Amino acid sequence: MNTCTMSDFMRRAWQAGTAIPGFNVPYLPMMAPIVQALRDTRCFGLIMVARPEWMKFQSKGIREVYEEYQRVKDTRCTRLHLDHVPVIDEDGLRVDYMADLGLAVELGYHSIMVDGSRLSLEENIAATKKVVDMAHAGGIPVEAELGAVMGHEEGPLPPYDELFESGKGFTDPQEALRFVRETGVDWLSVAVGSVHGAISAARKSEKKVEARLSIERLDALQALVNVPMVLHGGSGIRKACVLEAIRHGIAKINVGTAIRQPYEALMGESVAKAQEAAYAATVQAVREELELENSVDKIYVGG
Ligand code: 13P
Repeated sequence: MNTCTMSDFMRRAWQAGTAIPGFNVPYLPMMAPIVQALRDTRCFGLIMVARPEWMKFQSKGIREVYEEYQRVKDTRCTRLHLDHVPVIDEDGLRVDYMADLGLAVELGYHSIMVDGSRLSLEENIAATKKVVDMAHAGGIPVEAELGAVMGHEEGPLPPYDELFESGKGFTDPQEALRFVRETGVDWLSVAVGSVHGAISAARKSEKKVEARLSIERLDALQALVNVPMVLHGGSGIRKACVLEAIRHGIAKINVGTAIRQPYEALMGESVAKAQEAAYAATVQAVREELELENSVDKIYVGG
């Protein structure tokens, strides 16, 4: 029996210069093939669900995801993470985030994320601190976000090159330092050029723009912030940028669109075919795009 927490696994990945991929589950039948892909590639990864995935897709809810996880988990290669519970959601509505995050801690998720990135810095600090206090009392690490990783909102994105060149919305290093100190958050999701794949019904099948990452900004952040950093919007980023980011402090990469779209393309035909597509896409992400095959040897030690 391994007694390491998600906090230990993340620190180990961070210190080894590798990363833990997190795969989103917007449809419950996707979970089994993702677990199988992680097992087959010997990659240590997270199964994740974010609030939009039970509100707008078909993952049903925090409890249902937990139950499916118990059924299909691999105790060596996988852990369960509650991704994006926003304080204000992508449609601008306030969320009872403490209730959702509290339920995940109570059930036994291994880590959770509060997303206060649509708030002012002060409000984001206050909301994140409240979640950290609650989760740490239960021994569960917390991820939070500072800066704007766009894409979940309804409308189209501004032209990507403009967005990247201007650095608009990128995480500010001094703010990050203050944020981490005052909240006690375990991992920080940073905005350095990535964008989320669209999730609105009208745009969710669109091909994602090939994002780039500012390694300079990552270095500036890591110089001040002594916690592992997280990269959201992990699908379709230029490969050289992703590999470089892992060497510069990114210890967790969230991947949603790259496995959701292949599943959705076949789910009308049959669940089995869609599951095969999700499996193939997960193997491809681990092996080809992130080069994280066999990472379990670096991250999971003992028991
Ligand atoms: P993509 O869907 O762009 O891979 O982003 C996933 C994500 O960041 C979930 O938190």
